[in-house]
Amino acid sequence: MIYLDNSATTFPKPEAVYMAMDHFARHSLANPGRAGHEMAMQSEHILQQARHRLNLFFNGQSVDHWIFTLNGTDSLNLAFKGILKPGDHVITSVIEHNSVSRPLSALAEQGVITLDRVGVDEDGTIDPDDINRRIQPNTRIIAINHASNVLGTVQPIDIIGKLASEKGILFLVDAAQTAGVIPIDVQKNRIDILAMPGHKGLFAPTGVGICYVKPGTAIKAWREGGTGGDSTTPTQPADFPYFLEGGTPNVLGIAGLLSGLEYLEKQTLATIHQHEIELIANLALRLQEIPSCRIYGHQNWDKHVSTLSFTLEGLAAVEIGAILDQSFGIAIRPGLHCAPYIHKAMNTFPEGTVRVSPGFFNNLAEMDTFISAIREISF
Ligand code: ALA
Repeated sequence: MIYLDNSATTFPKPEAVYMAMDHFARHSLANPGRAGHEMAMQSEHILQQARHRLNLFFNGQSVDHWIFTLNGTDSLNLAFKGILKPGDHVITSVIEHNSVSRPLSALAEQGVITLDRVGVDEDGTIDPDDINRRIQPNTRIIAINHASNVLGTVQPIDIIGKLASEKGILFLVDAAQTAGVIPIDVQKNRIDILAMPGHKGLFAPTGVGICYVKPGTAIKAWREGGTGGDSTTPTQPADFPYFLEGGTPNVLGIAGLLSGLEYLEKQTLATIHQHEIELIANLALRLQEIPSCRIYGHQNWDKHVSTLSFTLEGLAAVEIGAILDQSFGIAIRPGLHCAPYIHKAMNTFPEGTVRVSPGFFNNLAEMDTFISAIREISF
């Protein structure tokens, strides 16, 4: 099988991640903090090490403000539901994944917030001036996907972050497709909330999400319960990270995340990004030679992650996905990719596109096999 669906989740994980999780599960997998015995302390230590590494990796302002969640969607819900109040206005965009679009649309439908959704140009890039024009006195959050999970186009978050900060608006970045691939500096990019899953570019298993909440951000606790430490207060303890974390965390997954972060630091993001871009650029070049193929989004590889969408005239994306899977053993993701607004903007709704997303562990020989398969099934 050739796995080209790394935008959904990276596969395989680095060998070191499997080994770290296996070792942790066999020797140290207790309930972190709770009870205070040796194994519980080892579990707690893993959480603290992972927060510490995240804080260094993304240049955060506080180790304790890295909150562990279930996944990227959970991180985004924590932020939106904890921050937004009746009467707030939010600006977002058409490139968002449903993990941003749905909670915001639901809050708008309930009459809690008003919502503006900026478009993208033909290349799939947001114009920061468009965001600027929509700012209102009650705009509370600007929520932007760092890179589209459909087109792979990277957005100018440094410019948008500066704009948000100058206007006193919270800047939320969904880094689902960029964390572990493109450097993110929450201070330099002026990010107040950074939401991401662990299981994509950070090489953790599924079941771990991360949400950075800049110190000083006004936010309510929304997942209340046991924190393993202070049990005296009737409600959630006010100190971070416990204020935003309730219940036993996925400490085994976080052990995997810690190992994934160590792996990334050793390999360097530049090496990973360069390799992935080499693969996607190679695919784009050869897909262009197929007359019935149409590629969406720009091909400025400096502002791209390893994700490419295309259609083949006369064949539905889901059919192509099924043929690739069943006849060629190639895994891609066809359809709308949980991002319906960008497909509407590109006129690929509701059929969607074929999305191919090579990862760090793919190679050029696999790209050859993919292109041969596409040539065979195209008219
Ligand atoms: N968000 C993931 C994707 O784009 C699941 O496929």
